[in-house]
Amino acid sequence: MNELAYATAYAGSTNLRAIELGERIAGLCYPGIRRFFFTSGGAESNESAFKTARFFWKASGHPGKYKVISRKWAYHGVTLAAMSATGIDSYWPMFEPRTPGFLHIASPYPYRFERPKSAAPDDPRTPGQMAADLLEEAILREDPETVAAFIGEPVQGAGGVIVPPEDYWPRIREICDRHNVLLITDEVITGFGRTGEWFGLSRYGVQPDIVCFAKAVTSGYFPLGGIGVNDKIAEAIDAGTGEGTWMHAFTYSGHPVGCAVALANLNILEQEGLVERAGQMGERLLEKARTLASHPHVGDVRGLGLMVAVELVADKATKAEFTPEQKVGPRVHAETQKRGMFTRLRGDVYNLAPPFIVGESQVDTMINILGESIRAVLGS
Ligand SMILES: Cc1ncc(COP(=O)(O)O)c(C=O)c1O
Repeated sequence: MNELAYATAYAGSTNLRAIELGERIAGLCYPGIRRFFFTSGGAESNESAFKTARFFWKASGHPGKYKVISRKWAYHGVTLAAMSATGIDSYWPMFEPRTPGFLHIASPYPYRFERPKSAAPDDPRTPGQMAADLLEEAILREDPETVAAFIGEPVQGAGGVIVPPEDYWPRIREICDRHNVLLITDEVITGFGRTGEWFGLSRYGVQPDIVCFAKAVTSGYFPLGGIGVNDKIAEAIDAGTGEGTWMHAFTYSGHPVGCAVALANLNILEQEGLVERAGQMGERLLEKARTLASHPHVGDVRGLGLMVAVELVADKATKAEFTPEQKVGPRVHAETQKRGMFTRLRGDVYNLAPPFIVGESQVDTMINILGESIRAVLGS
């Protein structure tokens, strides 16, 4: 703040810290993503990605490509377009109508994925392939000349830590390529280390066209987010003039203080090996959480890196859910709060996502508290 408390990033301007941060993230992110635009948070990043996808297709002579496909249980933020991409329907009713041109396909949810009715009984495809193929069906149904982009979180976070099967993302990439649909990854949670790698799709060997990030770029200590785009998109933005200009920026884009905080934060993540640590502690967290699986109402325990979820069910054999009136999730949450642990739920799915510096004994305490709380509400 002493050096430069504010500088506008409108009209082609930037500042040294923003340039440094762009260069730094280019070295950490997917190799094909080398150009960055900074925002103040996750929803602004996703809005920027949707608009940039539309911009790219208009600039490339495909003005009819404007639709965005996302998934059930997706969480992309609460501004109007981000809310419309969000696939948790409780976020919609009091704010509808949603933005036109946003549609959803099923999530690759391994615990609850149902084979599509169109799949023959002897269909050789794996659940991951079938889930990915729902994207192709949607693109063909809508007409590829109307679809701009697919957006997905590498691991769905707020929707209940849904880790896709290993063969899901590579097939999504192929489908996007086949139909000229941009692949946007919402890495607001998974970006900068939470899965044990710097970005969430690397483990699947997949590169997106646009990556959205926020949260961990500053470890949350200052509001900053952004998007990274591939070279083709960057070239289209550079080439835009007159009416074809990429008219998009926020007052706080590339805020020099936010960028300085991010640079300091990335230094700490690197120097203290915190991304690797997130992977190691995540393994411990998942292993400990799995000890809860023997409880008669723990239906599923899943996770990747430092994001783990425990899904509570009324009937383990049928996977039937409790009714919302039973308020099982909120009651378990109240019990964990009494014992000093606070988190975010999706219905009866209890999500755990501690900071990267979490210690081994703290991981153990978290699972002990959760186990005691589940038993306090549902018996042992
Ligand atoms: C995957 C994902 N995308 C977008 C957002 C929205 O970010 P923000 O709340 O900073 O707008 C969130 C927030 O939790 C998120 O988890």
